[in-house]
Amino acid sequence: MRITRIQISGFRNLKEINLIPGENFNIIYGQNAQGKTNLLEAIWISTGCRSFRNSKEKDYIGFDSDEFNINITFEDEVRTQEINYRMVRKSPKNKQITLNGVILKNSSKLFENFKCIAFLPEDTELIKGTPERRRTFIDLCYSQLKPRSMSYIRKFDQLITQRNAVLKNIITGRDSEESLDIWDRQLAAAGSYISCMRNQYVIKLNRYCQELYSKIAGGAENLSISYQSGTFPPDYEYPEFPDTQMTEFYYKKLKNSIPDDIRLGYTHTGAGRDEISLRINGLSVRDYGSQGQQKSTALVMRLAQAQIYSEEKNESPVILLDDVMGELDESRQNFVCSIIADMQVFITTCNHRAVIHQCDDIFEMHEGSIVT
Ligand SMILES: Nc1ncnc2c1ncn2[C@@H]1O[C@H](COP(=O)(O)OP(=O)(O)OP(=O)(O)O)[C@@H](O)[C@H]1O
Ligand SMILES: [Mg+2]
Repeated sequence: MRITRIQISGFRNLKEINLIPGENFNIIYGQNAQGKTNLLEAIWISTGCRSFRNSKEKDYIGFDSDEFNINITFEDEVRTQEINYRMVRKSPKNKQITLNGVILKNSSKLFENFKCIAFLPEDTELIKGTPERRRTFIDLCYSQLKPRSMSYIRKFDQLITQRNAVLKNIITGRDSEESLDIWDRQLAAAGSYISCMRNQYVIKLNRYCQELYSKIAGGAENLSISYQSGTFPPDYEYPEFPDTQMTEFYYKKLKNSIPDDIRLGYTHTGAGRDEISLRINGLSVRDYGSQGQQKSTALVMRLAQAQIYSEEKNESPVILLDDVMGELDESRQNFVCSIIADMQVFITTCNHRAVIHQCDDIFEMHEGSIVT
């Protein structure tokens, strides 16, 4: 998958951007605060995902603008497609999105069609952050492969919110314990599906990451990644798709935890309690890893995500590397480049001489405009 044209106006500090990127490696360089990350962010939100910055959507619109427009043309082996993404200050909730001229009700069609993987400086949060951070990563990875999974994830989140509301009502006497059952049945189905998908993806991720990590860090260190379910025992044999036995198991777990859930006022069992364990030579990377080990682990997880996607889909995602290359020594840069060599890559950096890989196209960003 390759972007053939990017046009942006009114997005954060970006002025009229009209960029024809190269097929492989593209560098966007410039001093701090010129708009390099904003450009990657504009590409990223065109995948239908929320921004990787923790900001409100209305903040996408430039301070001096009434609206933003992003227009991206991209192609895969089969066809050329065009995304149009617009937001107006007067009604920031009503995003106006079209794909190939067809108006979309929501952004899920973008997610199904336009695939990017972003490597970000804050990726170490995948290691150091909460279990939720890792669950979200895994959920995004497998739904890139199977976009329909997204609806199960959304459904699961909604069901948890509804169940928690019922638990609070039970505490205040406005609801009875029996009213949980309708939610528990549905939760057992959605939660079992999510557990199956997470388990399958983590098995793959572990295989790819082990190999990548041993290459990046030398053979003495062994990275292992495993799925720790909040519902099923460690030796549980997951089916490929959830069967009745599995959903029944999940359902019983929920039933057994009702007294505790009522006491606590929230659902404290199930897929919402899953953890993805990351270990180097048996020790938790989160608790004991050095900064370098944590960074390499995060990097390897992203590379594995890109490899898995490319191999399963027979098509490469667009790679966004925000400020990542400059931090790596020569051999690591070479290693990263060798993995993503056939993909289209956008690299932002303050110092383009720090990026050693041969680049097709070098663009300079200055005060929100591409100047060369
Ligand atoms: N809604 C907005 N409207 C206008 N400007 C904005 C908006 N949101 C952020 N900015 C500005 O965008 C500028 C550039 O941000 P960006 O993060 O893209 O810079 P950068 O080139 O990646 O810098 P660095 O090298 O430091 O990472 C910042 O100065 C910020 O104030
Ligand atoms: Mg930046």
